[in-house]
Amino acid sequence: MNVLGIESSCDETSVSVISDGKILSNLISSQDIHKLYGGVVPELSSRAHLQMVMPLVKQALLDSKIEKNELDLIAATAGPGLIGALLVGLTFAKGFAYSLNKPFVPVNHIEGHVFSGFLMEEKPVFPYLCLVVSGGHTLLLLVKSDTEIEKLGSTIDDAAGEAFDKVSKLIGLGYPGGPMIQAAADNQRTDFAAFPISQCKNEFDFSFSGIKTSVLRFVQKEYGDPSKIPADHLPLIAASFQKSVVKALIEKTERVIKKHHVNSISLVGGVAANKLLREEITALANRYHKKIVIPSLEYCGDNAAMIAYRAQKIHEAGFKYDFSFNAYPSLGDYSFIK
Ligand code: KG4
Ligand code: ZN
Repeated sequence: MNVLGIESSCDETSVSVISDGKILSNLISSQDIHKLYGGVVPELSSRAHLQMVMPLVKQALLDSKIEKNELDLIAATAGPGLIGALLVGLTFAKGFAYSLNKPFVPVNHIEGHVFSGFLMEEKPVFPYLCLVVSGGHTLLLLVKSDTEIEKLGSTIDDAAGEAFDKVSKLIGLGYPGGPMIQAAADNQRTDFAAFPISQCKNEFDFSFSGIKTSVLRFVQKEYGDPSKIPADHLPLIAASFQKSVVKALIEKTERVIKKHHVNSISLVGGVAANKLLREEITALANRYHKKIVIPSLEYCGDNAAMIAYRAQKIHEAGFKYDFSFNAYPSLGDYSFIK
């Protein structure tokens, strides 16, 4: 089965062709323009997707040596994400599917991430524990099959990636926050400042909004203003912050391992690119003798290969969609995550 997937939920336009689960092409065009504004500007994002989607589709087909009429399925991310951005990929996919008379499958972006481990050679084994850490979501999921996903915990406020982005902006490291903080924190001591993470009522939930305030208070108390942070203190603040976020993620993940039977652990989403988090979750999995699956960097961030893969599984499970299916902004009801 040949599947063409399109991803346009945020600031990456991506198009992929997979054939029987094998990735033939996965093109990702990142929108650098948002750097100028310190965060994603929705209107600019939609415009950039419009510019990129057609050339990327053409190139992905060329690279994979698949003719458009050899495609069996056309898929696009339908949500959650920026509505204007989603509509570009989704509407293109619908039109393309209609013109080719092929089925069209709308994909939930978070579910794309959840199953992204299956794009790797070593795949997760059901039931697996999935820690989803992206710019908009932080979830602990028990993935029992392609269509049964139990939500055990989630963030009650900011997502882990959002915390990286906000703190990076706050201390002047810029956008995108995750990679900036990681680079600054590399090989630095982690005990320069204490940024405690709040506990939640549900033992598997997260709360990251407090850490931003805690960093702000520290900076105001020590330096008066973020612009006055000495250059040699920036990496130390970044390292202390990063350590604290990773510690919270690992602690909650360990709680789940202790209470639920799982065969594997999978770390997915943009923040799964974080080196310290990758190391710590691998060590945790090893301690509990669990298989660990973390996608390679290209498949941690937003990519269309995960959308194409997820579409195939939904299609194989017998789900059918018509062209009236619309884009949706939040995780909502259009998801197998219950
Ligand atoms: O999954 P993703 O690409 O987009 C969403 O679906 O949100 O995740 C983007 C998030 C951003 O918050 C970004 O700062 C974070 O992933 N990120 C990282 C790293 N690389 C990207 N966070 C920590 N360390 C990184 N190396
Ligand atoms: Zn994502």
